[in-house]
Amino acid sequence: MPTIRLGDIAPNFTAQTSEGEINFHEWLGDSWGVLFSHPADYTPVCTTELGTVAKYTDEFNARNVKVMALSVDGLVSHKGWIKDINETQDTTVNFPIIADEDRKVSSLYDMIHPNADDKMTVRSVFIIGPDKKVKLTITYPASTGRNFDELLRVIDSLQLTAYHKVATPANWKNGDDCVIVPAVTNEQIPELFPKGHKEVKPYLRMTPQPNL
Ligand code: BEZ
Repeated sequence: MPTIRLGDIAPNFTAQTSEGEINFHEWLGDSWGVLFSHPADYTPVCTTELGTVAKYTDEFNARNVKVMALSVDGLVSHKGWIKDINETQDTTVNFPIIADEDRKVSSLYDMIHPNADDKMTVRSVFIIGPDKKVKLTITYPASTGRNFDELLRVIDSLQLTAYHKVATPANWKNGDDCVIVPAVTNEQIPELFPKGHKEVKPYLRMTPQPNL
């Protein structure tokens, strides 16, 4: 299967999920999307991850992001495990989990890394833009739960670039100054960045975060 690279169209699929059959691109609509795999149902780290994602519903909604999980376990397993997640993580899982028993989607997205484990999916994450293009890919090992605050931070950065023509510097967090993207000319700056800017070097121009 081909590697999925940044800028590629996220491959479309139709899959059985805990919320019924879903065509991925139709389900995404005009939203941003996060597609993430976890190794298996009824495992401890995964239980905390899916509970955390459910608790971040308002954060994802505020950013117009839809979230979909995947493992190679089946629907009956997913539905039983969702009850456990809700109970133990004190939340309500309200996003679809793909039942990828035939590994169709995990193969399409290269989520099984056989030299790590030939049966389970690794912890892959794909962030997808409203244009259906892949904006981020990351892969965590099975034993490390993901940092969903970091995913929200990347989504904020991606949306600042898409909507406000700024990039974000190292360790940027919401509220910090941003970097004016190189494609913006100095002549365009006053109109695009009325809060002002500082030219540290001709190629390093900082401005207050535009959307605050
Ligand atoms: C877990 O989710 O807890 C887990 C899954 C596979 C390997 C290690 C941990």
